[in-house]
Amino acid sequence: MYTKEEERELQQLTDKLLKELEGKTEEDFKKLSTEEARELAEKLRRVIRYHDYKYYVQANPVISDYQYDKLFHALEALEKAHPEVVTPDSPTQRISPAFTGEFQKVKHYAEMTSLENTYSPEDLKEWDRKVKELLGTDTVEYIVEPKFDGASVELVYKNDILVRGATRGDGIYGEDITVNIRTIKSIPLKAPFSKHGIELISIRGEVIMPKSVFKKLNEEREKQGLTLFANPRNAAAGTLRLKNPAEVAKRGLDCYVYQILYSEPKKLCTDIRTQKEALKLLAECGFKTPPIQKVCKNIEEVIETVLAAQEERETWDFEADGMVIKVNDICAWEKLGETLHHPRWAVAYKFPAKQAVTKLIDVVWQVGRTGALTPVAILEPVEVGGVIVSRATLFNPDFIKSKDIRIGDYVIVERAGETIPYIVGPVKDRRKGDEKPVEVPKHCPVCGAPIVKELDEAVPRCPNINCPAQLKEHLVYWGKVLDIKGLGESTANVLTKKGLVKSIADLYYLKREDLLKLSGWGLKKSENLLNQIEKSKSAPFWKKLTALGIRHVGEKTAQLLAKRFKNIEELMNADFTELASIPGIGPITATSIQNFFKAEQNVEMIKKLQEAGFKFERTQEEEQEEKLPKPLEGQRIVFTGELEHFTRKEAQHVVELLGANPTNSVTKKTSFVVVGENPGSKFQKAQKLGIKMLNEKEFIELLKRYADQNPEVKKILKEKGLL
Ligand code: IVH
Repeated sequence: MYTKEEERELQQLTDKLLKELEGKTEEDFKKLSTEEARELAEKLRRVIRYHDYKYYVQANPVISDYQYDKLFHALEALEKAHPEVVTPDSPTQRISPAFTGEFQKVKHYAEMTSLENTYSPEDLKEWDRKVKELLGTDTVEYIVEPKFDGASVELVYKNDILVRGATRGDGIYGEDITVNIRTIKSIPLKAPFSKHGIELISIRGEVIMPKSVFKKLNEEREKQGLTLFANPRNAAAGTLRLKNPAEVAKRGLDCYVYQILYSEPKKLCTDIRTQKEALKLLAECGFKTPPIQKVCKNIEEVIETVLAAQEERETWDFEADGMVIKVNDICAWEKLGETLHHPRWAVAYKFPAKQAVTKLIDVVWQVGRTGALTPVAILEPVEVGGVIVSRATLFNPDFIKSKDIRIGDYVIVERAGETIPYIVGPVKDRRKGDEKPVEVPKHCPVCGAPIVKELDEAVPRCPNINCPAQLKEHLVYWGKVLDIKGLGESTANVLTKKGLVKSIADLYYLKREDLLKLSGWGLKKSENLLNQIEKSKSAPFWKKLTALGIRHVGEKTAQLLAKRFKNIEELMNADFTELASIPGIGPITATSIQNFFKAEQNVEMIKKLQEAGFKFERTQEEEQEEKLPKPLEGQRIVFTGELEHFTRKEAQHVVELLGANPTNSVTKKTSFVVVGENPGSKFQKAQKLGIKMLNEKEFIELLKRYADQNPEVKKILKEKGLL
């Protein structure tokens, strides 16, 4: 794609631009003439494209993320100052804001056929024999590539610009998903086909979700209680059809291209004579091409290659369901032609399916750390891709329902890449009639609490925070939020294992003698923990609400609640409308709060805590603080660098006391930035956006000015010798 000289030149240009742009803001860019702006924008785009290529296509970046961001933000600011120089192929234009949400039907430049499958070396030999016969030769050269398991797409470039991306659809017509395709960073928005004499080109590739990304996405979805994707293919295909390109951009899709479908002028078999050359041209134009593209002299070599790949495939970060074998000579393609649906010049060798059919004996429900109930299939043990499987996930109740899976059914089990075994669906033909539907439990299988299902969630949950399945994690969280030193992982483990704590409330009934019995627990350690637990009773109300671990109620929401309700009884009595009408609290959180208090176990635990002297009400300080003036109300303050007199947390706390909202990133809405020693990128960003900045001295002056209005602020300043 780039010659050595070009790389050197682009590297130099990068350094030069980084230097020149130091401290430049949108205001500075406004002073440029349109011509100057256009010239600078083009330079920035050239270097950004180069670094995108190094990062996303070659996975070999040559500048830091920080430097990249600097270039990117400069281009954004420049284009903002000069909208007249924005071009659709600019790297800033990957996300199209004006998308109406409808995908149009489009006709492909050439039919996107599918491949015939083969399953064994014998099948391949048979195919080889037919190819030779049709071509009337004894020797045929082949090329072997992975068969990517994703979503097939057509990409069209006109005069070097990506003008269309479409799904395969029925092979003749697909859906125009250009807005989503544009967000995939390994697909260039501009590619130098004209250098090769090509004006228009349609290429085929596969949009995939890397296994690593898939794993993270599903973990995240599980945490949020969303339906899991069954495999990376479904995740990639589902993502491509999202109606929100900004969301697609976040999903980490990738794309490999592997075929030139059509070009104007025609190049296949004239200039581009082999598939290997076609792939080389695509790579030169900045695309990611198959990481395996092995040219083989004969079918034996092909067989060796596919069998070796079969062994190796687990190590790839993309899912492949086989290998594709193509006749390397493109001119032979026309001679070989096609059958009704498949070309004769290519064939798929499918890896042995990591699938098996077995009987579903039962469904049990697992309770996760967040209380989520996951159905697990108990299977008659069966071998799947070399591993004996007796349990597999059924994802969630909606999956069971949509596939109509019943206990007693024969089911297909699959293992894909890194994923745990899962059920694909039932074999309905093998039903006898005595299969039983799967019931979602009404009560938690671990603690017996009634199960709840929250708004917009596919996952049923146990709402009982004392459920043993959740208790240990919750104790650690309780300790962290209420600052109970010594209540970490290992203590929580011991306390729950030894049965000393069966509910959070038990913490407040612990006796010294109980702790002394534990191995490794002396007088000092036991006393310390008890003192820390006792001390937590005086924590602010909002922290206590946070510590309850109500889903969707983190620190910020708990603060809102503690401002609105002065004790927990008021909160428990609040109805849905009242909760959902609090600014910053939506219907999902409101439902979650209500569900929490509906679970008897939670109410009991709160009562037990209260009986131990743990009050769920605003502390005096909180009451007073409510009444104090808020001179910095509505101000968004960002801190960067190290302050001499305050830790970051302390600084944020004082401004909060004065009503300000400390935030972590600099945006146009930031009111001012407090800059300490060795400031980070926020400093540059603030400079760029022209946001007011204070040094530590000025910051202290500001605090002093308001100290009389807030005794807590006064106290802090005095303690630090600043007053
Ligand atoms: S060549 C005429 N090469 O596998 C066939 N296809 O049915 C041209 N696929 O949906 C396709 N990796 O999208 C080719 N390296 C590869 C491929 C590949 C995946 C997909 C293709 C199609 C399916 C075959």
